[in-house]
Amino acid sequence: MTLRTIVTLPDPILRRKAKNVTTFDKNLQTLIDDMIETMREAPGVGLAAPQVGIPERLAVIEYAEEEEEEEEGTESPSRPPRPKQLFVIINPEIVKTSEEKVNGVEGCLSIPGLVGEVERHEKLQVKALNRHGKPVKIKAEGWLARIFQHEIDHLNGVLFTDLASRVWKMEPGEEEDRV
Ligand code: NI
Repeated sequence: MTLRTIVTLPDPILRRKAKNVTTFDKNLQTLIDDMIETMREAPGVGLAAPQVGIPERLAVIEYAEEEEEEEEGTESPSRPPRPKQLFVIINPEIVKTSEEKVNGVEGCLSIPGLVGEVERHEKLQVKALNRHGKPVKIKAEGWLARIFQHEIDHLNGVLFTDLASRVWKMEPGEEEDRV
């Protein structure tokens, strides 16, 4: 596997509408594996193909649901963390969204140093193909739903800064999940 270079603004590929994947060959499998490695190395929780210079409708997402807030006195530090879930989505389409929307702070691997507050659907359903070309349907809510929306936006040349109600520079030491 090879780490790919993550392109950043103002690279025009980030503004292009990506094309559907039509061939599920060895090159595609290599690209997927490279994208997973590049996302983990960044580190990030999602990465879309245009972010590595490939204008195709493909994204990888890896995210562990957040722990519930524990009440004081009930902490159990030995409890294992929630497992991360890995998704490879090809030619994804959002087929259902909740009316409910939520605000959250997002960053992007292609826009270093900036974060912004973005309103997103709280829940959604995505139809896509997996890495072998088989149709899959995924339900997501909360942060995972937000990541799906952010990645699918990348495939349409849309960046979080287009949608944010406000954008600001990250403070030193401030950290956000980047996608
Ligand atoms: Ni991004």
